[in-house]
Parts: sequence; C-alpha cells; structure tokens
Amino acid sequence: MNDAAPGAASPGDLLDASALERLYAYPDRPCLRANMVSTLDGAAAGNDGRTGTINTPADLVVYTLLRDLADVVLVGAGTARSEGYRRAGPRTGDRAARAVAEGRAARPEIAVVSATGRVPPLLAEQDGDGGGVLLVTCDAAGTEALDRARGVLGGDRVLVCGRERVDLPAAVEALVRRGLPRILCEGGPRLLADVAAAGLLDEMCLTVVPLMAGGVQQRIAVGTAADAPLVPGVLIESEGTVLQRWLRPRG
Ligand SMILES: NC(=O)c1ccc[n+]([C@@H]2O[C@H](COP(=O)([O-])OP(=O)(O)OC[C@H]3O[C@@H](n4cnc5c(N)ncnc54)[C@H](OP(=O)(O)O)[C@@H]3O)[C@@H](O)[C@H]2O)c1
Repeated sequence: MNDAAPGAASPGDLLDASALERLYAYPDRPCLRANMVSTLDGAAAGNDGRTGTINTPADLVVYTLLRDLADVVLVGAGTARSEGYRRAGPRTGDRAARAVAEGRAARPEIAVVSATGRVPPLLAEQDGDGGGVLLVTCDAAGTEALDRARGVLGGDRVLVCGRERVDLPAAVEALVRRGLPRILCEGGPRLLADVAAAGLLDEMCLTVVPLMAGGVQQRIAVGTAADAPLVPGVLIESEGTVLQRWLRPRG
C-alpha cells in the first residue's frame, strides 16, 4: 500500500529493484523523509554504538535506494562523527545519469547539523569524487567556528539558521531554496526528535531487523518531546527484516 504511488504493488508481490524504487518515489513537492534502523527491542545502534552491527542486506538495499533518490542527506553532527560520515558517492546504477538528465546532481549533498558549528573531520576532507557538504548551524556557534567552517567548506556552504539553536524549519526552507527539495534525514536520534517536534517529518522509513540487542543504546528519536502521527504507506518483509514507510496523514 502506498499513498504516493497507489497500486505500485499488492500484498504478496515479489519486488524487483524498479518496483522498490516506485514504492519509495518522492512525491512531487518538497519532502523531508527520515530513514532509520532499529532492532526488535528498539535499539538504534549495536552494542558498539554503530549501526553497522545491526544492518542487514535488505536494509542496505533500501538505505542505498533512499540516498540515490534524495537531493540532500540531513544528518546530526553526532552521527556524522560516530559513524564516520564522508561526502556522498555517486548514485548507483543508472540513477546518477537519470538524476543528471533531470537537472539534479549526480551525487546527493550532505547537510550536517551542528549547533557548535564544528564540521566533522571526515566531511572537512576535500574529495574530488564526493558530493558537496553543507553545514547547517546557528549564531550561537560563534564567529570563530563560523569563520573556520566557511574556510573549510566555502562561504555559501555554511547556512546560519537561528540564533541560540538551529531553526530547523528555516533550515529546510533554505535547502529547498538551494534546489534540494528531496531531503533525507538519516538521524541521529536527537536530530530526528527535533525534526519531528518541529512538525517537519513528512515520511518515516524504518527498518526493523530481526535481532534483540539489549544494552543501553538509545531509541531512534531521543530528546525533544514530539507528537507526530503517521499513517502506514509501505510494509515489506525480506528474510526477517521488516521495511516500513510511514506517511504524514493527508489534510
Ligand atoms: N538507527 C539509526 O538508523 C541511526 C541513525 C543515525 C545515528 N544512529 C546512532 O545514534 C548515535 C548518535 O546519536 P547522537 O545523539 O549523537 O545523534 P545526532 O542527533 O546525530 O547528534 C547530536 C549532535 O548533532 C547536532 N545536532 C543534532 N540535532 C541538532 C539540532 N536540532 N540543532 C543543532 N544541532 C543538532 C549537535 O551537534 P554539535 O554538538 O556539533 O552542536 C548534537 O550534539 C550513534 O550511536 C549512531 O550510530 C542510529
């Protein structure tokens, strides 16, 4: 079942890559979609604090597809640091060429959100083959941090949105104005809670992996209280991994 692409699949269908792509197609309007993975008991990372230890092959397929379809990956600085984010590589298969034909970039941008204005080290590295990096920050970062970030990324790649905290609605507006309306938020949990609390969550893609992790890892959204109801759009099972796409209710 899928609100954005009605009739794209029926219960029991086996999905190939193009059917999967239709099921996850972005709507024809600016859209902020989040994508997260969780264990059965709600852990947003393995006991080593990384998502790599709870991923499954099916999760990787959808993770890659969602990046391929997005204009920009919005990510918290905490996640970028702990997961070692780098500039995005090219979209896979013929999706890079199709994006270019549509007037979009061959690689999605990475927009890292940081109140302190520190660019995570691996995103600061210049990489001829990688996509662009934007820093989304606020005045509270201070002149020194802002100047340093502008020196690393370029003046027009530092988006100052808000005074004490990042004003996320203003940040999303700025991304859309830059021609990046397909926004993929990859967390982490603090950023996702803030996004949901700000009423910005249009879609929530969630992978549940068949694993109990125990431990002390956080849930997929932590911190700011939110109240963001969603309705089901897609439910897929692959070797025990359950892939879900939840949508903002219409009206
Ligand atoms: N399960 C999943 O799908 C998934 C996805 C992503 C991450 N994770 C896991 O989550 C953990 C990382 O969690 P985290 O709490 O560090 O996540 P996070 O939300 O990525 O990072 C928090 C940091 O990001 C910046 N930030 C986030 N929201 C902000 C906002 N609204 N305004 C301004 N700055 C904001 C701040 O950086 P500054 O300190 O620079 O100001 C803040 O300290 C790791 O274990 C990672 O593996 C899991």
